Amino acid sequence: MATSYDDLLENSKCRALSYLDALDRRRVFPDDTMLDGLAAFNENLPHEGREGQETLDLLDRHGSPATVANMGGRYFGFVVGGSLPVTVAANWLAAAWDQVASSQVTSPVADHIERVAGEWVLDILDLPRGSAVGFVTGATMATFSALAAARHHLLDRQGWNVGEYGLYGAPQITVVVSAEVHVTVLKALNMLGMGQKNIIKIPVDANGAIDVAQVPPLGPNTIVCVQAGNVNSGAFDPIESICAAARAAGAWVHVDGAFGLWARAAPALADMAKGVEKADSWATDGHKWLNTPYDCGVVICRHKRALAGAFSTSAAYLKEEDGAAKDRVPEFSRRARGIEVWAALRTLGRDGVDHLISENCRLARLFAQELSALGLTIHNKVVLNQIVVSCGSARRTAQMIEAMQAEGTCWFGQTEWQGQKAFRISISSWKTTEQDIAKSVAAFKKILTLQGNSE
Ligand SMILES: Cc1ncc(COP(=O)(O)O)c(C=O)c1O
Repeated sequence: MATSYDDLLENSKCRALSYLDALDRRRVFPDDTMLDGLAAFNENLPHEGREGQETLDLLDRHGSPATVANMGGRYFGFVVGGSLPVTVAANWLAAAWDQVASSQVTSPVADHIERVAGEWVLDILDLPRGSAVGFVTGATMATFSALAAARHHLLDRQGWNVGEYGLYGAPQITVVVSAEVHVTVLKALNMLGMGQKNIIKIPVDANGAIDVAQVPPLGPNTIVCVQAGNVNSGAFDPIESICAAARAAGAWVHVDGAFGLWARAAPALADMAKGVEKADSWATDGHKWLNTPYDCGVVICRHKRALAGAFSTSAAYLKEEDGAAKDRVPEFSRRARGIEVWAALRTLGRDGVDHLISENCRLARLFAQELSALGLTIHNKVVLNQIVVSCGSARRTAQMIEAMQAEGTCWFGQTEWQGQKAFRISISSWKTTEQDIAKSVAAFKKILTLQGNSE
């Protein structure tokens, strides 16, 4: 049962490498045969423990084929990056360390490297230096954390200690969001007890950005959630002018920049993201466009005390200039996921991050042109890495999604774009090349020919 680390890690390394090596030759989403193997896991909990090697063998033999190949270059679903090699390697080493990333006391190394990673994130995204940074599981938790800070801050300013009294009888907070707000922002607001009835949704323009003329008057009890990167179109809300109005009114602006915030690391795109630095809090992901392993999100908050007020386990934060990690995020014990952010940023450098982002955007524009040339409709201005596509009618669009998913060369999912059925293609992986686009376009052509012949 107690096989040594040596044997197991060597075995794991070999299996992982042959998995990665085979990715380009397999279908992106597993078919039924590949999924059939999952039945092998339906065992009773063994009475006596099993050999570690045997467990690893089962995991690889029946688990690996049933994976979604988002580590390859042709997974275009949701907004999903692959993991850069150095981030996987750093993840393995950090797993061997098994550090508790709560504070300097539980792990000096995790605390130190995550602080460096946090400063680098502020630097590359050009957000206010000295902001609090916390590493969480993803943008959902980053937004949750930021909005907890906002709630604490706005109520505290009115003499209401939400930690002491909760929300019962508290001054009402109004939340303003885009009509195209990401569902996870609503989820975060729900978890915070903000109440869906207290949310005002602002209509959007043709590319999915908030129509600034329709933003209601803001006040000191308002939180405005804007998007740096609409999940479908990639569009940015007019963040600079919303921040100016919010600043004058004493409102809090939170930016959901799960992937789009990384546009600020690409000088050619930075104009689109102008003024984003004027907000109060930001949520982004490492596991999307920075291509770190799951799970890795980042909460950034201009007001250190507000974030600590929401999450500190002691009153010490009031005195501390810079609290422990556990006082900046919801978790107490957690893995040091910031190490992978550090490894990605150090290995790519500013130029590498710029190249990753810019190249994905170039490939998205190329893909859109090729699909348009095939007669498909591109619904959005491809300002970033996202493409919204349809095939005329809802029926033909659904048929295309189904046929492409069955064909297996690439994978993307359906979406709804301004009331219409569509599909979304997201180019977010460091692995995606022009060849991947060409192979995917060839698969589209094949399906169109088959569909044409069957009509
Ligand atoms: C704009 C936006 N916000 C938030 C999220 C949620 O991110 P996560 O899944 O990392 O929690 C996503 C995920 O796709 C997103 O695209």
